Amino acid sequence: MSVVSTDRSVRTMLKHGIEQLRAANVPSYTLAAELLLLHVTSQNRTWLYSHPEEILPESVVEAYFAFLAQRASGVPTQHLTGKQEFWGLEFEVTPDVLIPRPETEHLIEVALDRLTVREIRAGRHPRLTGENLTLMDIGTGSGCIAITLAKELPGATVYATDVSLPALKVARRNAARHELLDRIQFVQSNLLEVFSRPLQVTDQVLRQPGAAPMFDLISSNPPYVSTRDTDSLPVEVREHEPRVALFGGEEGYELYGDLIPQAAEHLKTGGLLILELGYNSLPAVEHLLDRSDWHNVRITKDLAGIPRVISAECRSSRARW
Ligand SMILES: C[S@@+](CC[C@H](N)C(=O)[O-])C[C@H]1O[C@@H](n2cnc3c(N)ncnc32)[C@H](O)[C@@H]1O
Repeated sequence: MSVVSTDRSVRTMLKHGIEQLRAANVPSYTLAAELLLLHVTSQNRTWLYSHPEEILPESVVEAYFAFLAQRASGVPTQHLTGKQEFWGLEFEVTPDVLIPRPETEHLIEVALDRLTVREIRAGRHPRLTGENLTLMDIGTGSGCIAITLAKELPGATVYATDVSLPALKVARRNAARHELLDRIQFVQSNLLEVFSRPLQVTDQVLRQPGAAPMFDLISSNPPYVSTRDTDSLPVEVREHEPRVALFGGEEGYELYGDLIPQAAEHLKTGGLLILELGYNSLPAVEHLLDRSDWHNVRITKDLAGIPRVISAECRSSRARW
């Protein structure tokens, strides 16, 4: 479409965007067109619908058309706008991190619920501040889980690991954006490996060396897609999100097999493990929660009825480190 010959009103531009993305079979095409138009105009949704006649500058329309073409070819909207909302907070998103998903908010709900129940059982005030709590998020990606928990629990000390240094850099920028850099330590590690030996200055880590802490809660949304399912993934995911964030192995649930015993080594007695699950991971993962290490196992379904979060309490601390 020629920019010069087009009616450049907001209404026409939105209509054009919706039509172009619908024709390209883009999921949630209306929302995607809206978000891209909001992004290029630096406006909010109220403005969009209250200024339908406003004529947009040619340069803005050109930028919008370029974004629409990229979105139609499969680039995720969040890679074009550079952001995604999670738990009401805005996170920077780049191709180095998984785009935070709404279903991961269930993990936050379960974590806050179970920590509250623990406080009540211990005879303490149920209003959680996180005072004296040490939390760990494994595979932090954009940092959405670690940062949300740190926001919700202003007294807590938070650690977050990832194997991907580029992802950790995005997570750190997100922590800075939410003014939490002083409360979250980002560590490059394969799961919790770095915490299983004294930290050294030579470690490719973003924290000071010192004694490894024991945790009150370990959360993780690990990669859990089976490599066999690669072809069935939407192009946005398959071609644009990091493989290390998606694939857990041929079965998909392989990483849980290492993560769960490592978590048992690093949780305090009564510490909580909260894990996101793939749509079909429950039978395998449930089986890995050995009842001699874990109790009070709970499964939480998402809005689609899929078992999405498994949580459990560590029976007895091994406190080796
Ligand atoms: C599914 S993404 C989750 C990202 C983020 N926590 C979220 O919920 O949006 C999984 C993350 O785990 C990281 N990862 C993959 N294998 C890992 C490993 N062995 N140890 C630590 N992190 C790992 C990936 O780099 C990626 O950032």
